[in-house]
Amino acid sequence: MVTASCVPVHAHAEDSDQEDVSSTTPLELSAEKISQLKGRIMDETQPMEKRNRCVFTLCAVRTEPSIDALSECLKSKTCSELLKHEIAYVLGQMKSYHAVPVLIQTLEDESEAVIVRHEAAEALGAIGQKDSIGVLTKYLEDPSIEVRETCQIAIDRILYFEKRRHEGKPSEVECLSMYDELMLGQTDEEEMSKMFQSVDPAPSSLLEGTEQARIERAKVCKRGHQTTEYRGLFALRDIGTDAAVHAMIEGFSDSSALFRHEVAFVMGQLQSPASKEILTKVLCDANEHEMVRHEAAEALGAISTDDTVEILQKHLKDEHGMVRESCSVALDIHQYFHSDQFQYADGLNE
Ligand SMILES: [Fe+2]
Ligand SMILES: [Fe+2]
Repeated sequence: MVTASCVPVHAHAEDSDQEDVSSTTPLELSAEKISQLKGRIMDETQPMEKRNRCVFTLCAVRTEPSIDALSECLKSKTCSELLKHEIAYVLGQMKSYHAVPVLIQTLEDESEAVIVRHEAAEALGAIGQKDSIGVLTKYLEDPSIEVRETCQIAIDRILYFEKRRHEGKPSEVECLSMYDELMLGQTDEEEMSKMFQSVDPAPSSLLEGTEQARIERAKVCKRGHQTTEYRGLFALRDIGTDAAVHAMIEGFSDSSALFRHEVAFVMGQLQSPASKEILTKVLCDANEHEMVRHEAAEALGAISTDDTVEILQKHLKDEHGMVRESCSVALDIHQYFHSDQFQYADGLNE
């Protein structure tokens, strides 16, 4: 199992003046404490932001009992969609085969919210078990475009790293839909996103050359397959300059809501003030997909300036439940970044 960052936004390691020890050292908790955390996640009388911290606390434990507790919450029919998608996400970040059955069950449950099924499919890709390709292939025909697209990206990821592990480089024939290696370069799983401590849905492309040349090449990825587009997006994130952020902004014109939500997520990882204006626009756009608005809200929480607080507070009364809940979580993330709290994953604190 590799380490998983235990702050929802997976903030840039260099930008944080506090070291989140939970991202490197598993928390040791008794069965009783694990059960207490599970109870808090399920307790609808608790504020959303506290319940979210409990999810990330269980993620920091990284043991089979903590995965079982998260799995029970994921299977619950009453738990909020926002929390369930976050649970599916952290199960992927924990990279344990132990979580595969519950993630498959979640993907297969067509009555489940799209955002939760999307995150379950993405988590299966992050865990990377080859046997998951069968179920992911089945849902390439799903009625939801977000689920279909995620399944393709997850299959590409599993195939890519399988080939990397066994042969060093995927053949073009076997990975037809995948990556233009000449243009994008090769990436080892261990090397991926050390800076952001996240298991990305697609490997960032290792581009060489000047900043401007790398940005231009990352932008070209947009003309390819969606997985390639993702690789270009992560390349822009890894460049991380204002110019790279401006190139990312074009991603909000993409026809895929899935891609737009990933752009917002990545902006949250970067925490660049250069993305504040566009993220505010996305959050305020009532016609935008809820998944995208949710990621925009949490990204604004991570950017964490006083004017972002104002806009997040305003949307605590948004007509969409997922947006309202995301704003509560975002305000809590903001508070965390401005406090002397030792770690975000402190679900057992009163
Ligand atoms: Fe997502
Ligand atoms: Fe999310």
